[in-house]
Amino acid sequence: MTALSVNLNKFALLRNSRDKNSPNIISLARRCIKAGANGITVHPRPDQRHTKYRDVYDLASLIKKFPTIEFNVEGNPIYSFLELVKQVKPNQCTLVPDSPNQLTSDHGWDLRHNTERLKPIVNDLQKLGIRVSIFLDPDSNQISLAKMLGTDRIELYTETFANSFGKESQEDVLEQYRKLSMEAQELGLGVNAGHDLNLHNLGLFLTIPKILEVSIGHAIAVDSIDYGLEVTLNKYLETIQIAHLKTQ
Ligand code: PXP
Repeated sequence: MTALSVNLNKFALLRNSRDKNSPNIISLARRCIKAGANGITVHPRPDQRHTKYRDVYDLASLIKKFPTIEFNVEGNPIYSFLELVKQVKPNQCTLVPDSPNQLTSDHGWDLRHNTERLKPIVNDLQKLGIRVSIFLDPDSNQISLAKMLGTDRIELYTETFANSFGKESQEDVLEQYRKLSMEAQELGLGVNAGHDLNLHNLGLFLTIPKILEVSIGHAIAVDSIDYGLEVTLNKYLETIQIAHLKTQ
């Protein structure tokens, strides 16, 4: 079944707006785990406006106490990020081509131009036992390049899907993701997905079989305002469970 990894960045953004440790990211992670989340994701950006490098160390210590919980650290593999990841050794590192001034991740890697840079990075992380995933646009040209790169998984950038949700193009766009996902799986790549997934569009996206993980941040933070964190996570987990039963 698809794993739900809760991205804590938006909660960290709220915390960082005051000089106090509230909300406390570690307590929130503990509550996510207790509520049934399968993993925790953080995306420490270079300006550390969301989760900070310190959070990554603290969360790693917490998550080590829960052997079934996956820690996913995502970001642009600049020197300081890679040093952090090599020390913390999360279960998964998702490489994302974000730039310092980006509001949020808004594109995947173009592997026609980045394979040489990424290949030794992927190898080094894998040697440390860290699973590597790379963030990709829904572009068929990138899938075979990802295989050649040697990554374990890809994370499909789902904003295009989210933007098409409820519109005429929805079925065509979904079909495009379905094809890409199958193509990747046939090459032996695991497929994760993320960005702009929410309670409305998640069930439809998960009609695509064998998505291994969805990482969701913004919508979980927003829904928590309405329902509270635990009820929100229950709703996401239920959506995933129903989608799983339908694709069996
Ligand atoms: N995947 C990646 C690579 C991201 O950068 C983000 C946002 O930090 C997400 C998934 C989660 O996106 P959202 O916050 O829209 O759920």
